Amino acid sequence: MTALHQPIRRIAITTGGGDAPGLNAVIQAVTRSALQRGWTCVGIRDGYDGLLRPERYGPGEGLIPLTLPRVDGIAALGGTLLGSTNQGNPFAYPVRQADGSTALIDRSQDLLDALSRERVDALVAVGGDGSLAIAHRLAQRGLPVVGVPKTIDNDLDGTVTTFGFDTAVAFASECIDRLHTTAASHHRIIAVEVMGRYAGWIALHAGLAGGAHAILLPELPFDLAPVAEMVRRRDAQGQSHSLVVVAEGAHPRGGERALSGPAEAGHAERLGGMGEQVSQALARLAGKDARCVVLGHLLRGGSPSAFDRVAALRFGAAAVRALAAGLSGVMVALDGNTVRPVPLADVAGRMKAVPLDGDTLATARDLGICLGQ
Ligand code: F6P
Repeated sequence: MTALHQPIRRIAITTGGGDAPGLNAVIQAVTRSALQRGWTCVGIRDGYDGLLRPERYGPGEGLIPLTLPRVDGIAALGGTLLGSTNQGNPFAYPVRQADGSTALIDRSQDLLDALSRERVDALVAVGGDGSLAIAHRLAQRGLPVVGVPKTIDNDLDGTVTTFGFDTAVAFASECIDRLHTTAASHHRIIAVEVMGRYAGWIALHAGLAGGAHAILLPELPFDLAPVAEMVRRRDAQGQSHSLVVVAEGAHPRGGERALSGPAEAGHAERLGGMGEQVSQALARLAGKDARCVVLGHLLRGGSPSAFDRVAALRFGAAAVRALAAGLSGVMVALDGNTVRPVPLADVAGRMKAVPLDGDTLATARDLGICLGQ
């Protein structure tokens, strides 16, 4: 964390990595707070590609001037008006080679030069673990940077919550509600796969809210025998359907996570398929009809909940206040009920897993929800 950089006249905002409901609300809050201070504000298209690959856009089109009319009413919209990419790390930028392979090149100096050509004095970087690690490295190179935590997975350390999580949980639990009635009509097991690469926050919260009978998390490698036993016990009591929520990163004890495709250069491996594996195994073990529903990217889409809009607006405004106070190398974070800056050095690259001794998991256990243990 550094303090007191040069006075600011113009800032840029970037949204990188997987999108999350609330990104447009952050863009609105940053823009309005910056304009109130007499600064100008631009948005970089598609992570940093607007500056690193200007040829992809029309001349001067890699940056979007952010004005009051441009951001009017956008807080209610899902997605990001700037676009995003998860293959644009300036420190390991994928560049296609003549032989068809892809090399990862350090293009951070190109980015810093482009920002200086565009007279950008400071950056607000909105993103998850990868984007915040990039923000941290840019701050170390002398660029005034403030990070804003974003991910539907809620797995960023240093903040009570990230925006996008509440919307994802609300939608997932509505889907689980709907699946109960069809599962009950057909006396089936339904496995519902939700996002959650390393942490099971969405699975746990949506499973609790939606009344799931079993919840499988990446933090607790599972055994399906107790889940099948729970299904049989319910059957014996006349409850002939069971709902099992499976985080995409959940895996059997001693087994692997399910991958849906090979890792691409500069991009984390793609997860997917554990819901189907669980559904097929449970059908065999419990001797019942089973189906799998993958909610996947549906959880990232749609309009942010009121909670996420307010969180995103608070984070955006706090990011501009931090820059105005001369701070750099910080992330704005929810601490209790207050948004405060925390050093990026303390949070970048650190994951917040569901605590195994926390009360939410204890609640699931107390309710008799099977965790595959
Ligand atoms: O936003 C995080 C996340 O939702 C993970 O849970 C998931 O593994 C990943 O994004 C998928 O992202 P994409 O398909 O866009 O690469």
